Amino acid sequence: MIRMTLSQPSPRAATPPEPDPGGWDRPDQDGVLDFDRLFHAHERLRWSPVRDLPPLTDIRRDALDPDLLDAVVVLARTEFSSIPAMLDLLSVFRDDPDITAWLSIWFAEEVRHHLLLRQYAVAAGRDPAQMLPPMQRPELGSPRPIATLAVNVVGEIRTCRLYGAMSGACAEPVLAALLHRIAGDEGRHAQGFAHYAQRLAGADPASVPVLLRVGQVWCDPDTGLTASNPAAENYQDAATAEAMAGLYRRWTDAGQEEPMVLRAFGRLTGLPLERPGDFARYARRFRRANGLVPEAAAEEMP
Ligand SMILES: [Fe+2]
Ligand SMILES: [Fe+2]
Repeated sequence: MIRMTLSQPSPRAATPPEPDPGGWDRPDQDGVLDFDRLFHAHERLRWSPVRDLPPLTDIRRDALDPDLLDAVVVLARTEFSSIPAMLDLLSVFRDDPDITAWLSIWFAEEVRHHLLLRQYAVAAGRDPAQMLPPMQRPELGSPRPIATLAVNVVGEIRTCRLYGAMSGACAEPVLAALLHRIAGDEGRHAQGFAHYAQRLAGADPASVPVLLRVGQVWCDPDTGLTASNPAAENYQDAATAEAMAGLYRRWTDAGQEEPMVLRAFGRLTGLPLERPGDFARYARRFRRANGLVPEAAAEEMP
């Protein structure tokens, strides 16, 4: 009789267990790029207009507010300006593949916002041509990447609050749902820009005064710095920009925004920023401490 035995591998000779790759978004897998983690964070919250929004056929005509519909047209025009803005962002971050990878998410979502707002407005009776403004690009020169990120942190915080306020006040349920979803995206955009701004700031202490300057411009546009802001972005025609300013005045409270921006810039700079005047105060202190300008001149600087 032939006895066949199956040899048992000794523990010592055992081959190492197969690595368990787990899920695509295992939290313990550090990515090569920061983008890797941010991508999966975005994916976990990704929504679909088909799956997560009521269909356009559910629009309640009796609940449509013409003023709010005008606002949707302005928002669709503004979201469209992400296209020329992206061209500049790609240029500013041409040496940073990590940020550029993340911008692919930002860009796709902003363009999607434009599309969905436009589709809603058209379904509610508006002319689609109203929502396709000509592409406009400002003369930016060579903005510092950290300033560009900081400007976008502020911009995304503001749009998040605007969409959130409009959503809360909107009686038409399809639009309310769309505005609510977009508000969430804008909040995550603020977090993404802030993530990379924090990384850049951590690598270069000289970025602190740049961040303070951007914060100062936001908190007090009357400083006259707006025109000289190296990262000023204006990708809209004057009428759309003014209409957006009107929406911010109507729907958001700058007083409530202020603490959020101060907190965001406090995290970026590591400084205890509590009031708008702190931007200029710490900027002067930084320059003096680093001998960047004579003290008398520093006092005069914004
Ligand atoms: Fe957007
Ligand atoms: Fe955004």
